[in-house]
Amino acid sequence: MPSQVKEKNDKGSSAEETPTFPPSGHLKKQAHIPDMGTYRQMYNRSIHKPEEFWMEVASEFYWKTSPSGKVLDYNFDIRKGKIFVEFMKGATTNVCYNVLDRNIMEKNLGDKTAFYWEGNAPDNSSAITYWDLLKQVCKFANVLKKLGMVKKGDRVAIYLPMIPELYAMLAFAGFSSESLCERILDYGVFRGEKLINLKQIQMKLCKSVRKVCAFTVYINMEMHPVANCIVVKHLQGKLNNQNEGTLQTAWNCEVDSWLDELMMDASEECGPVWLDAEDPLFILYTSGSTGKPKGVLHTVAGYLIFTALTFKCVFDYHEDDVYWSTADIGWITGHSYITYGPLANGATSVLFEGIPTYPHVARFWEIIQKYKVTKFYTAPTAIRLLMKYGNEVVQKFDLTSLKILGTVGEPINSEAWLWYYNVIGNQQCPIVDTFWQTETGGHVVTPLPAATPLKPGSASFPFFGVLPAVLNEHGEELEGEAEGYLVFKQPWPSIMRSLYGNHERYENTYFSKFPGYYVAGDGCKRDKDGYIWITGRIDDMLNVSGHLLSTAEVEAALTEHLAVAEAAVVSRPHQVKGECIYCFVILKDGKKFTEQIGEELKKLVREKIGPIATPDFIQNAPGLPKTRSGKIMRRVLRQIARNERELGDISTLADPSIVEVLFSQRCEAA
Ligand code: WTA
Repeated sequence: MPSQVKEKNDKGSSAEETPTFPPSGHLKKQAHIPDMGTYRQMYNRSIHKPEEFWMEVASEFYWKTSPSGKVLDYNFDIRKGKIFVEFMKGATTNVCYNVLDRNIMEKNLGDKTAFYWEGNAPDNSSAITYWDLLKQVCKFANVLKKLGMVKKGDRVAIYLPMIPELYAMLAFAGFSSESLCERILDYGVFRGEKLINLKQIQMKLCKSVRKVCAFTVYINMEMHPVANCIVVKHLQGKLNNQNEGTLQTAWNCEVDSWLDELMMDASEECGPVWLDAEDPLFILYTSGSTGKPKGVLHTVAGYLIFTALTFKCVFDYHEDDVYWSTADIGWITGHSYITYGPLANGATSVLFEGIPTYPHVARFWEIIQKYKVTKFYTAPTAIRLLMKYGNEVVQKFDLTSLKILGTVGEPINSEAWLWYYNVIGNQQCPIVDTFWQTETGGHVVTPLPAATPLKPGSASFPFFGVLPAVLNEHGEELEGEAEGYLVFKQPWPSIMRSLYGNHERYENTYFSKFPGYYVAGDGCKRDKDGYIWITGRIDDMLNVSGHLLSTAEVEAALTEHLAVAEAAVVSRPHQVKGECIYCFVILKDGKKFTEQIGEELKKLVREKIGPIATPDFIQNAPGLPKTRSGKIMRRVLRQIARNERELGDISTLADPSIVEVLFSQRCEAA
């Protein structure tokens, strides 16, 4: 049993001590899945007759042609050959057509608001209808065509803040370029009071990471870095002398152009490009345990159908809902549950540019009141942050529009769950604790709000088409109450198809540890009632505020410092972030650890990876606990960071005395 499984459990809630909350009675009347009987019956069908089940879901969408062969074909067993998943292969469609044109033409939703945009500053907001959105997408697609920039199969990068110009994403879905992190750039954006010059960041990236996909602006990246860069005017008239300087960025006439100028005379009509169900839709990068990010590849049909159905059932979507996910679009949550899932259902959503604490700590609650939000989806780390400010802050606002609350990104502790339930939901709103991953494309283990009795901290039961199992260290399936590795036995439509450019890594990472299964990389516990409790990562990953980071990437950043010989990074529990980063560094001979070096190291990691990865603790270590074969025993380091003295067996250590030394010098407070 991986040791982390146990450790994580101690800080989380457990089935035995927490009460069960019945599902919401008042939602039942018109709910899509009104009770557990309906759930079980649909679930069984989805597992035993997946082709029939998913074709029924698919029939709500537009297909230019039908699948040419099997609806679902796959191999999950590495011993039998190449791993692959194909869903509706041969069918042709277009995602943008399904989420915009179809809603406008077949469902008459043209004048319905697609997004209420709420800017960083409260006096900055706008709304965009389905019609407007489609027109912008078409115009932008025509701009790209005219520039001769994008053709089918191209990869495009988008680098944008949370502003409506993100419609660019759909224009690419129109060309079905694989996605990206971005392609247009904003000059600058405010996050709270901080002004960030995005164009400059992008320019740095263009220089330093030639072949990387994410965050740059180009087509067919390996061939020619940055062919064109389209820049959005976003903060015009909102800057003063002081912060205008931040936006001084070089302009390269050969590459850069303004979006509004290009859009001015572009046509509002642009026919869809028809794609195969298994053509790539986008690539999204996620941390890998070796430190090198993995480009998770999703394809057209399966992703569309699964995000659409999960959105409809998990948030029990109805046409008068106002839905708000506080996630960033650059994250999988923003792709599946701000863009594709909600738009596929014709929903009205809030798109928020800012942060929860600006200009005041009740900004979330103010926005819910302003737009009468009915379904609200956020991360446990945000809940833990906001609960610190007390209940009075919340009670000034009218939150009675809320019907369903959701969380994603990390396990939620019962204290935060109860506060969310009692204070934000006023005991009226079920909480859907949705477990999923960039790799799964959509929710895989989650409550259904009108059906599932809730246990705080448990993601509960599998969604349709998802067949989980709990394995022990030897790969044996455990029945009943059990704890072990969370794996999945068969594909659902939106499971990732590959890692971009490295199918072998895909097979090694997810399918080789236990042949025949997709290995999620999380530990889990199944209680006596069959509820699944996610206990956290069991690989070398850190989950800081719901963001996955690999220990290796933080270590690599630390060892770039000239004074550092070796570094080892582990997580330690943190009240708001869930986990925070604790580093052990060994300095080179003759170097002395000073406060300044500590600060330099923090800055280095921040610059290399991002603010989220800033270490909380840096311990100057004379040595590391290593086995005789030279492997760092991270379990021991984790215990030192957490001051857990019950070490268990450390007889395989080359020099056990180092453990006591490290304990005596451990960092108490940040
Ligand atoms: C963790 C985010 C517990 C888990 C959508 C997973 C969760 C990783 C939950 C994926 C949850 C996500 N309960 N843990 N409800 N949701 N996780 O790829 O460790 O950014 O493997 O996708 O987040 O993170 P990713």
